[in-house]
Amino acid sequence: MENFIIHNPTALHFGRGVTGELGKTVTRYGKNVLLIYGKGSIRRNGIYQQVTEQLQGAGCRVAEYPGIKPNPVTDDADAAVALGRMRNVEVILAVGGGSVIDTAKIVSLAIPSGAKAWDIMTRKAKPQAALPLITVLTLAATGTEMNQFAVLQNEQTRHKIGYGNPLIFPAHSFLDPSFTLSVPRDYTAYGIADLIAHALENFFGAGDATLSDKFVYAVIKEAMEFGPALLNDLNNYDLRAKIMYAATNALNGLTAYGRVSGDWGVHDLGHILSLLYDLPHGATLSVAYPAWLKLMRQRAGDRITELGKNLFDVKTVKETIAAFEDLFAELSCPVRMEELNIGEHQKGDIVALMKKNKVNGMNYKLSEPDIENIVDLMFG
Ligand code: NZQ
Ligand code: ZN
Repeated sequence: MENFIIHNPTALHFGRGVTGELGKTVTRYGKNVLLIYGKGSIRRNGIYQQVTEQLQGAGCRVAEYPGIKPNPVTDDADAAVALGRMRNVEVILAVGGGSVIDTAKIVSLAIPSGAKAWDIMTRKAKPQAALPLITVLTLAATGTEMNQFAVLQNEQTRHKIGYGNPLIFPAHSFLDPSFTLSVPRDYTAYGIADLIAHALENFFGAGDATLSDKFVYAVIKEAMEFGPALLNDLNNYDLRAKIMYAATNALNGLTAYGRVSGDWGVHDLGHILSLLYDLPHGATLSVAYPAWLKLMRQRAGDRITELGKNLFDVKTVKETIAAFEDLFAELSCPVRMEELNIGEHQKGDIVALMKKNKVNGMNYKLSEPDIENIVDLMFG
């Protein structure tokens, strides 16, 4: 087992009605608030009203930056920074899914320093401080509500990359599962695929961390047990709660401690599909994971078999990969490129952008021929 420090400073407020404390919590950090949200779901489902009532009740002055798109872009982060600096905001409130929260994380780093979002993402700028960030999560998937990561894309350079910095752990995250009741069936499913993928990325990292392995199994088993049930019963609060908590624990450190790192090769591959075709993150992973597992048959055979034994009670690599394909299919997630409406003629563009972005895993390295093989395998 590797050495590690556990320090996760995010206060997680979980359960029905928790945002009743939002106004009071925000004003502990300041009354000048930058409220960041997405393209309108929070206006349709009433969350915007609940949040703004809390802020008004606490006497906050609010600058709003709406319109963050799924697969968020650095231009929006830069524009939100300009607004926040003009309005002297003291605290940032992100209300939405991973795209909104990730944007807010980089904004929280950029406001004090004035650095460009992409310079922060690429580590050209090294901010030393961040504004406090509070989040209200509306979609169970990424785990960003309790971690130090953000993923943004640069439309100009055609890159989508991840960034990690302990300064961007949210100070508080409010998770009311009832806020996810309005997430449509497809995005609910992609969120479940994403949380499974996070547990797997950690499982395939280097190092001997047997307890973290067991947390991986537990998180995936939760998704196996309650994911399909939720897709048949989208208004079920208890099922929403189980999936929401599983998603947080898939990527808040619990499945990673004691390893050298995770792998994250599949996420790198998936990000390129999102970048090229603006696809939902989880839908790219359910296609990329089976292909990656097939390429890794030899190199990671023992680990794949161990997963199969613990999750599906099967004995071979082949049976394990088939069980994952069945699981993603049961979750109504795509497992082949054609289900994403991507044809063989697009292969060249995909491989070229993957090579340009130098997609790779941290544990299982991917050569250029590996990338070509994985893309072939994504087509089946
Ligand atoms: O924009 P609005 O109108 O809010 O609609 C969103 C969006 O269209 C909608 N939505 C969110 N909450 C809803 C809702 N619709 C109805 N009811 C609600 N309660 O869902 C759509 C998708 O939202 P998005 O935030 O893009 O989804 P997700 O949470 O899956 O985030 C995906 C982004 O997170 C990154 C991904 O790469 C992607 O850019 N990731 C971030 C990670 C991290 N920071 O740790 C790790 C992940 O692996 C991932 O890479
Ligand atoms: Zn993910």
